[in-house]
Amino acid sequence: MIKIAVAGALGKMGKEVVKAVLEAEDTELVSAIDIKGEGYDIGKEINGKECGIYVESGLEQAIKTKKPDVIIDFTQPNEILNHVKLYINNKVKSVIGTTGLQEKDITELKEMSKHNNTGCLIAPNFSTGAVLLMMFAKQAAKYFNNAEIIELHHNQKKDAPSGTAIKTAQLMSEVNSNFSLGNCSEKEIIQGSRGGVSNSNIHIHSVRMPGYIASQEVIFGASGQIFKLSHHTMERSCYMAGVLLAVRYINEHNEFIYGLDNIM
Ligand SMILES: NC(=O)c1ccc[n+]([C@@H]2O[C@H](COP(=O)([O-])OP(=O)(O)OC[C@H]3O[C@@H](n4cnc5c(N)ncnc54)[C@H](O)[C@@H]3O)[C@@H](O)[C@H]2O)c1
Repeated sequence: MIKIAVAGALGKMGKEVVKAVLEAEDTELVSAIDIKGEGYDIGKEINGKECGIYVESGLEQAIKTKKPDVIIDFTQPNEILNHVKLYINNKVKSVIGTTGLQEKDITELKEMSKHNNTGCLIAPNFSTGAVLLMMFAKQAAKYFNNAEIIELHHNQKKDAPSGTAIKTAQLMSEVNSNFSLGNCSEKEIIQGSRGGVSNSNIHIHSVRMPGYIASQEVIFGASGQIFKLSHHTMERSCYMAGVLLAVRYINEHNEFIYGLDNIM
């Protein structure tokens, strides 16, 4: 059995993760961590059945006393860099779903992970369909010199653009250096109208609205044609196959991995 701790256990994603860990045959929940509340049985919160694991708020304390094989983190962008450093420094393998890490953070964490010989898998998106969209976007990027990304999320999302959009742009930029080829010089009448400009001049537009969970569209254009890739998350359960895949992989490997595509 793989011993699992979940950080952010009372959040929207955290609850789904706890449910998946309780239901999987090869995982055992040893700790549920959340700053929102403590002391009550997480099983009761998830499915009404007590499981004997009580929510605790001290992350470091939980790691040291419960000694998980893998910690899964779905907390918040402001804290995530410190969390991952804490996991690596304590030699606890981690699967990170929390977004907000920047390229320089990833580089720093990769070094730390190597130095401490501690596996860490960070994925801006654990939904297999969304990961396939990213892979296909990289393929298509070879054939189009113009592309923009629209990402659409619920209005409680704290960071923009989404980690998935950033990662998609990175992948596309590996095969093409300018996705705004031939665009005329522009003046924004309302600031931000053209979105944020990412790698290889890819414009990213972020929509925040109740009703959405997570959606993304990549639009490619060329003379006489438009090609669109889109993915829509209908329920948060769609992330769990990817999360468990990552847990099983990192439990067996001491590697630093950024992106679920690397193990699919
Ligand atoms: N990688 C993916 O596939 C994926 C998918 C969906 C969401 N996300 C990301 O996961 C993160 C969480 O999303 P959510 O919608 O569940 O948010 P949420 O606000 O519903 O849940 C976050 C939970 O973390 C807790 N928390 C915050 N700081 C903490 C800390 N320092 N220690 C312990 N607990 C802490 C909060 O109390 C809350 O219960 C966000 O960064 C989001 O963008 C990633």
